[in-house]
Amino acid sequence: MSPERRSPSEERPHSLGALMAAKEIVICCGSGGVGKTTTAAAAAAMSACKQGGKVLVLTVDPAKRLADALGLEGIGNTERKIPPEAFARAGVEPRGELWAAMLDTKQSWDNLVHRHAPDQATERRILHNPLYQNISGRFVQSHDYIAMERLYELHSEGSFDLIVVDTPPTRNALDFLEAPARMADFFSSRLLRLLIVPYRSRFVNLASKPFYQVADRILGSQFLEDIAEFFILFQTMYDGFVQRARAVERLLHDRRTTFVVVSTLEAAPVREAEFFIDVLTDKKFHLGALVLNKVLPDYLLDEAASARAARLSRSAEEIAGKLVSELPEVGEPEQVARVLREVGESFRNYGVVAQREAKQRDELAAAPEVVATVPYFETDIYDLDGLLRLGDTIWS
Ligand SMILES: Nc1ncnc2c1ncn2[C@@H]1O[C@H](COP(=O)(O)OP(=O)(O)OP(=O)(O)O)[C@@H](O)[C@H]1O
Ligand SMILES: [Mg+2]
Repeated sequence: MSPERRSPSEERPHSLGALMAAKEIVICCGSGGVGKTTTAAAAAAMSACKQGGKVLVLTVDPAKRLADALGLEGIGNTERKIPPEAFARAGVEPRGELWAAMLDTKQSWDNLVHRHAPDQATERRILHNPLYQNISGRFVQSHDYIAMERLYELHSEGSFDLIVVDTPPTRNALDFLEAPARMADFFSSRLLRLLIVPYRSRFVNLASKPFYQVADRILGSQFLEDIAEFFILFQTMYDGFVQRARAVERLLHDRRTTFVVVSTLEAAPVREAEFFIDVLTDKKFHLGALVLNKVLPDYLLDEAASARAARLSRSAEEIAGKLVSELPEVGEPEQVARVLREVGESFRNYGVVAQREAKQRDELAAAPEVVATVPYFETDIYDLDGLLRLGDTIWS
């Protein structure tokens, strides 16, 4: 464990760097497409560079180019160290190590079954059950749970000083917080027990018999058997599973864990970010930071600049005339005037949007300890160099 990772006091950090130095798990959440994956990778890269230690970014769905740049293509659950040459190419010498892993839902489920199944025969039967194969491979809900479960596993193994987690763009983006509790509830639910009772006893009870006869005809008896077998087998893992789900839940609430809400300042993501902040606060998770991504530059708020833009539009003909007489190669005066008018108008329009953004930023910024803003870069962020450039803007 690197020494600078622990903060001696509980004082409020004022930068993302200070926050991350004090934590072991950082979970980036936010609505779809706002930059969660990019922020998680950038923050992890910055921490590895500046604070040292072993830093892991656990990502779910990096864009292909970023995955390639991080050497993640096709590696699944295995953690991989970003080679020092990648940092050298970006012109930096990191103090620590940056590792990356991608979440392989199916593989993680299989590992979980391996861990909790009472014996090898049960394990094999679960792994071969068609319903299990569907659930572990495709269900979004199972994805939520497994992401948190995998985080727990990596944290317990203790090989990393800091784990930065990227969360999937689920329809209900905070579902993952409740996934462990839901999983535990599910295993203790009455519905589950009712479902499997007829298959447990060899004598299907008289009341439910007609139901099963009809269901058999509609769905096919194989299907119902698969379901029943699945649940009966899963029950054998009950204790291990529930204990584990509770431990995962505790870890999310632990003081070593913090959440970073990522958002842009467009209306819909802002509404969702507000919702995230409320939920995290209500449920007593540690809300560490708000990262506002793709924010318009502050110079658009400058009143003097806006006044100049207005003048540019108003006096476009006059300015164009002077410009063309000095520099005839810029073109026809009418054409140049049109361009100048457009530029002035656009600048002022962007200024209005920037004002709206600034207001939303102020409203959002009240809750978290740290607020960082990231400008809209001209190009996509797809390599370590880009991540570090973005990282620089949020770090201190
Ligand atoms: N500040 C920025 N400036 C320019 N491009 C950016 C910026 N932040 C992110 N991007 C780009 O925006 C796209 C979406 O980013 P990212 O994949 O990180 O979002 P996400 O929240 O993880 O999306 P999803 O919800 O689909 O997982 C990427 O192509 C990324 O390179
Ligand atoms: Mg993503």
